[in-house]
Amino acid sequence: MSRVFITGSTDGLGLMASRLLAADGHSVTLHARSQARAADARAALPEADGVVTGDLSSIAGMREVAEQCNAAGRFHAVIHNAGVGYRERRRIQTEDGLAHVFAINVLAPYLLTALINRPDRLIYLSSGMHHGGNPDLTDPQWTHRQWNGTQAYSDSKLFDVWLAFAVARIWPDVLSNAVEPGWVRTKMGGPHATDDISLGPVTQAWLAVSDQPAATVTGEYFFHQEQVTVHPAARDIKIQDQLVGYCADLTGATLVSDW
Ligand SMILES: NC(=O)c1ccc[n+]([C@@H]2O[C@H](COP(=O)([O-])OP(=O)(O)OC[C@H]3O[C@@H](n4cnc5c(N)ncnc54)[C@H](OP(=O)(O)O)[C@@H]3O)[C@@H](O)[C@H]2O)c1
Repeated sequence: MSRVFITGSTDGLGLMASRLLAADGHSVTLHARSQARAADARAALPEADGVVTGDLSSIAGMREVAEQCNAAGRFHAVIHNAGVGYRERRRIQTEDGLAHVFAINVLAPYLLTALINRPDRLIYLSSGMHHGGNPDLTDPQWTHRQWNGTQAYSDSKLFDVWLAFAVARIWPDVLSNAVEPGWVRTKMGGPHATDDISLGPVTQAWLAVSDQPAATVTGEYFFHQEQVTVHPAARDIKIQDQLVGYCADLTGATLVSDW
């Protein structure tokens, strides 16, 4: 039995992965942005061990989530699933002065990784759209460019791959991988999504707990339990480190290296 924490597990793929893990006898801790959503999550999965609350759009909220996780005890695996999509029509600025999509999709997984007691496995939800990500960090907050929600989302999902791969290098004792779940019908995916939703949560749940050789690798990018092609810049160590350093500067929290 593994203890697994899943961000953004009130709905969509996070809730589906939680259900799969709970049905297999694992201990699942859910996460919701607010007390009201925590009640919804509890009702959706009464078998869950607990619900951590905190809005991941603010650095203060990210810190609250990490504190509650650490108070709950060490997890074997953390699935960084919470995310917002590509349909924001304008640049939304968070209370920390960041682009909303960047804060939730990139900075939250970074800061939770840095602050939550180190698990054995980390899984970061990326997307096939990461292939359209812009592989540079010249304007991650969209303060110099005209807003483009699709590009901001694609960039954020490439950044998630950089983060997963950087963590795999920095912490060789942790299995850290990125997952593309397919385009599936959730609140984010929308009603026209064409991929098989039943397969959407499977890979991240499998990477969290399976002892199969294919699941116990690190620094890889998966789709439907198979390693698939990743953005050509994804393995660029220099830019991975640049992202990690940038997130450390924003939060004051570092990923302590093992070497
Ligand atoms: N669906 C797809 O086709 C697709 C494709 C590729 C990748 N993905 C990735 O898969 C992951 C899950 O997506 P999904 O389709 O399941 O999305 P979803 O149905 O919209 O669910 C997103 C989850 O994140 C939570 N969340 C959003 N903003 C938050 C915030 N500020 N603080 C705390 N929690 C927050 C949501 O909470 P509420 O329920 O309260 O809103 C919800 O639990 C995302 O990382 C996404 O990028 C999805």
